[in-house]
Amino acid sequence: MTRIRCDQTAVWSQLQSAFAAEGQHFDVRAAFAQDAQRFTRFSQSAPHVFADLSKNRIDAATEALLFTLAEQCGVLAHRDAMFAGEKINTTEQRAVGHVWLRSPSPAPTCGDPTLAREQVAAHATLEAMLAYAEALRQDAEITDVVNIGIGGSDLGPQMAVRALQSFAHAGKRMHFVSNVDGHELAAVLAQVQARHTVFLIASKTFTTIETMTNAASAKAWFFAQGGTDTARHFAALTTNVPAAHAFGISTTFGFWDWVGGRYSLWSAIGLPIAIAIGAPGFRDFLAGAHAMDEHFRSAPMAHNLPLRLGLLDVWYRNFHGFGSRSIAPYHSALQRLPAYLQQLEMESNGKRVDHQGAALPFGTAPVLWGEPGTNGQHAYFQMLHQGSDVVPVEFIAVKHARHGLAGHQQLLLANVLAQAQALLQGQADAGGHRNFPGNRPSTLLLLDELTPATLGALIALQEHRVFVSGSVWGINSFDQWGVELGKVLAKDIAPRLQSGDVQGLDASTAGLLARLRD
Ligand code: F6P
Repeated sequence: MTRIRCDQTAVWSQLQSAFAAEGQHFDVRAAFAQDAQRFTRFSQSAPHVFADLSKNRIDAATEALLFTLAEQCGVLAHRDAMFAGEKINTTEQRAVGHVWLRSPSPAPTCGDPTLAREQVAAHATLEAMLAYAEALRQDAEITDVVNIGIGGSDLGPQMAVRALQSFAHAGKRMHFVSNVDGHELAAVLAQVQARHTVFLIASKTFTTIETMTNAASAKAWFFAQGGTDTARHFAALTTNVPAAHAFGISTTFGFWDWVGGRYSLWSAIGLPIAIAIGAPGFRDFLAGAHAMDEHFRSAPMAHNLPLRLGLLDVWYRNFHGFGSRSIAPYHSALQRLPAYLQQLEMESNGKRVDHQGAALPFGTAPVLWGEPGTNGQHAYFQMLHQGSDVVPVEFIAVKHARHGLAGHQQLLLANVLAQAQALLQGQADAGGHRNFPGNRPSTLLLLDELTPATLGALIALQEHRVFVSGSVWGINSFDQWGVELGKVLAKDIAPRLQSGDVQGLDASTAGLLARLRD
């Protein structure tokens, strides 16, 4: 399939002219005043998610140009190529198949016979993993599950287990150890007993130094505590089953190279989620994501939520020049969502060359950051309202709460509406320091409830919007070469901390190394 980079399309210069003529001065308040239908026009229902896009600096004419941009870049053909199993991860010569993991049917959808076989095997693995999760949930002797993994092998499962805590098995404590900083593992080991604990070693590659170091220490601790039965107390979630066996783990759940680390919570990497919420819950989680996949595949452009969001991201990054987006989930269980989205978007689209390696003359992934509301309001919202930079905010609100505490939910929802309203309206007549400029853009994503299905849909929505902006930018959203150099250098420095050898190091690193050895 042919991909055309956004700046090489005919419509790109039209967008530039539209921005220069009107876009840069766009006032959302005036747009509301002129168009009584604006809320309807710029709200969008998708499976399990309702989105209010109306408080953004966009109008129908700009959005039409952005749809043309998507057409001219070949975004929809690129999307279809992903679903069909083409090797769209071109720098690694891999297909991108996390969407297949959510498909309810075990029937293969790929023409490629190897991929088709692996798609079927993926369904068999899902069944095996869910059976394991159910057995473990019924095993009263196991009270603690420790997931050892980092990046995609940690952030997704951790975020989802926390998000779905009100659906979780009360008798299983879930722990997540990611950092090579021994404080993290030591703190967890201090709370658990070997005979009551299962360690899940989660690593796509089974070579990641942090995970391997933590896994080795956990195994040594287990034996030191008198543990012997590693088949019962250790399981590996990995594409590299031989390495897991070599490490001494016989219980394994595999996945394939067509599942990127940051897209892997739908695979065996999701086992902690399945243990927490059970097999039916995990199936609902997959079904919610699948419903969003179908929406992304079939909804016309003008009603395709991932497409509308991804194109708005491009408009903000490349025309308005906004360098960041703040994520504000108004549900405390979504506490780890900003961190999860950071990896999803910044590792996928934080690239300065296109998929052919040519330098890009425009900006790509913004910085994502945030905290749950209302906490953020009492910390950095000052900057969002009155700071010198405009930061689009993405609010996530949940209509129904699962606690019975009277009054709290109403206040929480009042706050999310008030913040979006304050960003939009501002306050001009208060004078000096009390003035709010307003016209600060925000999107509100609304879920009815936070459930496995709605969370699945919300995550798939985010995956696809990242796909759309990456596709427009002409980059490969599915590799992550930028993490490699630091890994190589850390391997070189580690023995130097022992030996004191500073040969070939820059003066700063050499000086710091010497201080660390003092
Ligand atoms: O270093 C980045 C990265 O490769 C991520 O892409 C990945 O999610 C993480 O490390 C963990 O990798 P693995 O699952 O192979 O241990």
